Amino acid sequence: MILKKHKASITGVHGYVPDYILTNKELETLVDTSDEWIVTRTGIKERRILKGDMKGTSILGVECVKGLLEKTNTDPKEIDLIICATVTPDMLFPSTSNLIADKIGATNSYGFDISAACSGFIYALATGSQFIEAGTHNKVIVIGADKMSSIIDYEERKNCVLFGDGGGAVLLEPSEDETGIQDYLLKSDGSGGDMLCLKAGGSLRPASTETIKNKEHYIYQEGSSVFKFAVTNMADISEEIMNKNKLKSDDISYLVPHQANKRIIDATAKRMGVGPEKVLLNIEKYGNTTAGTIPLCLWDFENKFKKGDNLILAAFGGGFTWGSLYLKWSYNN
Ligand code: COA
Repeated sequence: MILKKHKASITGVHGYVPDYILTNKELETLVDTSDEWIVTRTGIKERRILKGDMKGTSILGVECVKGLLEKTNTDPKEIDLIICATVTPDMLFPSTSNLIADKIGATNSYGFDISAACSGFIYALATGSQFIEAGTHNKVIVIGADKMSSIIDYEERKNCVLFGDGGGAVLLEPSEDETGIQDYLLKSDGSGGDMLCLKAGGSLRPASTETIKNKEHYIYQEGSSVFKFAVTNMADISEEIMNKNKLKSDDISYLVPHQANKRIIDATAKRMGVGPEKVLLNIEKYGNTTAGTIPLCLWDFENKFKKGDNLILAAFGGGFTWGSLYLKWSYNN
């Protein structure tokens, strides 16, 4: 029997950010920085922090999924698969997606995590869409969530101003029409791996008094080098997916960019020829939540989208990893 091929549609989105707001002003009391420097260089005004002991990324994922299930009127037992993109899993194993499945009662679902840093959500969305398109799965949840505060040194000014905690989740189902995920491009280059990484805690450098003393369990980033790669690659891959699908600037309804730095986003929009009214931005409220930025953006701006709108998602991150995804929005609110 030949299965009828369906595209994978996003049929719902929900986000979650913790209540605690870490403002630029508060950061001024922790490190030698200023609101003016942070806003001019990055566009960030505040970020959210998940406070309290024994609270990992799964808490963020659970809140996203609970809201998503309620909104889409979905029984957790109907979920076939949960994919969680994160670089801050609760533990190295088991996977955070399994922990989330357990906490939400998705007893018929299996799950796995995807590690692709800031490109994680696009990688996970492309992966999830394959299971729908193959006709083997009906309901797939894709989560992007990170508790970046768990790997940030709040005594060092370079990184602590950039990152925050948060996440979002989407439900993927077979499309009933031609809307849904149309195409994607995913790339990686491991030669850039050591410019943005967590040096210790893996099998290469297991935790030791030395790794703790050297602060190797905090994010390491060569900011200005990463910036240059991000600007070029995010713009290139966004232009490439437009050309591949014969999309002109006017055809694009919205650019949904990874929110790492407003200057990187501006360069991407410029290359695509789209004006600021089409560029979705929430970096000022949440900073860089790594795998969380794109689903958080979809959630924040969901009310703007109309069925058939052409969205381009684009990201660049540690790995290096980067990617773009073209989708036609599948519902009206
Ligand atoms: N407050 C004040 N000054 C700071 C600072 C802070 N929080 N962080 C760095 N500085 C200082 C530096 O020490 C440096 O001072 P110096 O010239 O006396 O040495 C100066 O500001 C410029 O630093 P530089 O790193 O060259 O700044 P930049 O313009 O490249 O901006 C980033 C820094 C991190 C904002 C920028 O490089 C960036 O966004 N990189 C990409 C980050 C990213 O997106 N990563 C996630 C994956 S995409």
